[in-house]
Amino acid sequence: MKKKYQIEIEKQDHFGRGLVRMNQIPTFIENGVAGDICEIEIIDQKKNYQIAKITKLLFPSNDRVEPSCPYYEQCGGCHLMNRSQKKQWKEKEQKVKELLERIAGIQEIPLSPILSKNHFFYRNKVIFHGKDNQLGFYQEKTNLLVPIDFCMIVKKEINEVYQQILEFLKANPHDSIQKVMIRTNSFQDILVAIEGNLEQDKILSCLDSVSSIYINQKLIKGTGYLIEDIFGMKFQIYPTSFFQVNYEMMLEMYRLVIHFYQKKQHQTVLDLYCGIGTIGMLISPYVRKVIGVEQEKSSIQSAKKSKTRNKIPNIEFLQGKVENYIDQFQKIDSIIVDPPRNGLDSYTIKNILKILPETITYISCDPSTLARDLKILSIRYHILKVHPLDMFPNTYHVECVVFLKRQKIFV
Ligand SMILES: C[S@@+](CC[C@H](N)C(=O)[O-])C[C@H]1O[C@@H](n2cnc3c(N)ncnc32)[C@H](O)[C@@H]1O
Repeated sequence: MKKKYQIEIEKQDHFGRGLVRMNQIPTFIENGVAGDICEIEIIDQKKNYQIAKITKLLFPSNDRVEPSCPYYEQCGGCHLMNRSQKKQWKEKEQKVKELLERIAGIQEIPLSPILSKNHFFYRNKVIFHGKDNQLGFYQEKTNLLVPIDFCMIVKKEINEVYQQILEFLKANPHDSIQKVMIRTNSFQDILVAIEGNLEQDKILSCLDSVSSIYINQKLIKGTGYLIEDIFGMKFQIYPTSFFQVNYEMMLEMYRLVIHFYQKKQHQTVLDLYCGIGTIGMLISPYVRKVIGVEQEKSSIQSAKKSKTRNKIPNIEFLQGKVENYIDQFQKIDSIIVDPPRNGLDSYTIKNILKILPETITYISCDPSTLARDLKILSIRYHILKVHPLDMFPNTYHVECVVFLKRQKIFV
């Protein structure tokens, strides 16, 4: 029998776990909510910290709610689903504030959170994995498949197509699927990309309502992309293109950025890590010229097609790594960066400080790398505003949009 301890959870950590100090040792409690009085058991002992699980919830925190997903415990994708929406917002805001204070050393942060509009059924893209004729998600940090019938955070039309694929597998036990990506747009068109061993004709008739289908990377139906509308502009989304997963919150985020460039009309703007070129094209009416840089080939192809479709004269796109282009730019008035989770590399950040644009817009999906980079940028920039955006409700992830202005002394 493992030893049990009775504790009260003090606060949350940055991954949605409960945190308490036991004899000064930080103890992270899976699915724990601040204010819970509970009995715990240590499940993993490390040198400087330990991990515990709740064995009995004695007095639940007032912020607790019953998770509405039946797979909550096994799947582990929606860490915050056992607490209220209000508590989730507070937790994300606190996380951004703490990281910016601790890592970047920024005090009195001008925070202005943007709350989520859609708590469930918001994701427009999902990847299910398969094993032994079953489909589902891998349990967090393992390759253990949790078979599921639906997901509470993906769009309902995705769940419907997923149901059809599950029925297909039931009816065709000799076919197998290793991985299936299902993507939708605001018009509810569907794109499916399947990897596996299956009969093409049978899956085609089963997915009659799906507009584009790939099997093992080969297009077997439709155009191969989805068209999305953003404030009247149209964009093409391919299976490998990055596109924001929460359409409604993406509009909120882009609205902030457009407003910033509407207010102060810049000459030349760099849109680094531009994906399919959405941000650059949306701000193009308010600036003289935009240059987008992106490494993914299909995204750049899509961006170039959208430039023509939307008749945008003042934008150009460069395909390749930002770090391979960044030392070639001079006389740039503003730089937009929207890097992946690992943030900006040191060469890029060094060159941004050499270019020294008047303003920088930093869009981030990881506040800890954001804080690391802001620490360096704040040597020469004031932070005008930090907007934490609840782009991924029920998960611990938080998106941030930060607007920076060059300090006057360095002009
Ligand atoms: C978070 S997405 C941003 C996309 C876009 N700004 C948007 O709003 O849709 C990051 C993008 O950076 C691209 N990327 C990642 N590393 C890169 C690099 N070193 N150089 C250029 N692009 C990169 C990815 O392919 C992805 O499209």
